[in-house]
Amino acid sequence: MKITLTSTATSLAAALLAWYDLHGRDLPWRVRGGAQPDPYRVWLSEIMLQQTTVATVIPYFTNFLQRWPRLEDLAQAPLNDVLHAWQGLGYYARARNMLRAARKLVESHGGEFPQDEAALLKLPGIGRYSAAAIMAIAFDRPATILDGNVERVIARLRQVETPLPLAKEELRRFASEITPLKRPGDYAQAIMDLGATVCTPKKPVCEVCPWRSACRAQKTGVQALLPKKTPKPKRLLRHGIAYWVVRRDGQILLRRRSEKGLLGGLMEIPTGEWRDTPWSPAAARRDAPLEAQWRALPGVVSHGFTHFRLEIIVYAGQVDGRSKPAGTWCSREHFVDQAFSTLSRKIIRHAEAAVSS
Ligand code: ADE
Repeated sequence: MKITLTSTATSLAAALLAWYDLHGRDLPWRVRGGAQPDPYRVWLSEIMLQQTTVATVIPYFTNFLQRWPRLEDLAQAPLNDVLHAWQGLGYYARARNMLRAARKLVESHGGEFPQDEAALLKLPGIGRYSAAAIMAIAFDRPATILDGNVERVIARLRQVETPLPLAKEELRRFASEITPLKRPGDYAQAIMDLGATVCTPKKPVCEVCPWRSACRAQKTGVQALLPKKTPKPKRLLRHGIAYWVVRRDGQILLRRRSEKGLLGGLMEIPTGEWRDTPWSPAAARRDAPLEAQWRALPGVVSHGFTHFRLEIIVYAGQVDGRSKPAGTWCSREHFVDQAFSTLSRKIIRHAEAAVSS
């Protein structure tokens, strides 16, 4: 793509880069002073940072690198180990796709990341944002990244009043006009840092902003009102059921979710279908994984997914060792070795609190 820079764009980029050299954050996946970053580290950090904050990601990133220092190491890891190390980061499809991408890179690309946006886009889990971020940060190419931070900064700088998501392409055009040919990798990280630390959603700190004098929204005083957003439809509520089954020797029944779908491949406390209407006690007993004296525990476990909220009622039952339900029995001490989703950990906490009270 040919990029023509206007002088304003050049001076904006220069001002931001000068600010970044002084105030950019030191992050474990970053290199400074023109050094060449390791594409594996850039990719890993960008996948983790999708939908997750920098502060949350740092310990996961450090742990992943300790366990799998190179792409080849990660490609050989069993899925369960990767899911286990991912526990708590959420959106587990990212972990599964990441492992598939690592294997594909080793098998078909000689263990190297392609320096080509179209080829990056063919890898599992790499969308438009991640491909651009890898091109810019790992290979110092002038790709335009557009995440929530960048959208906010650009919407204010150019006073774009169109609400998101409709404004996306307009913002992308403005963002790409400013993307410089010199140091585009640092520039990409600089604009994300500016959004995260100065041009923040609620109370932007305009006094320290390197783009203050050029910012249209700041001039008219509407910066905190931008970007506008089309209200999202209310999230649907769905209803689930979980079975806390304790065997006479104290072991608890677990099950692995199928690889496909939400929370695929993770271990769980067995759950029933997630329905649009509440479960009746009779239906909960009928769909139970085995026969027992079921007791509905008081309260619900509530969990938010991107597109719906789930409320789960937990049923507890004691069984002797004779029945052989699908799944595996696991003692409480060995729960730490399991890759549970946050939802399952909530169910465990809820069941244990209710059973012991
Ligand atoms: N958010 C997503 N990617 C980032 C990066 N490379 N630096 C800072 N914040 C980010």
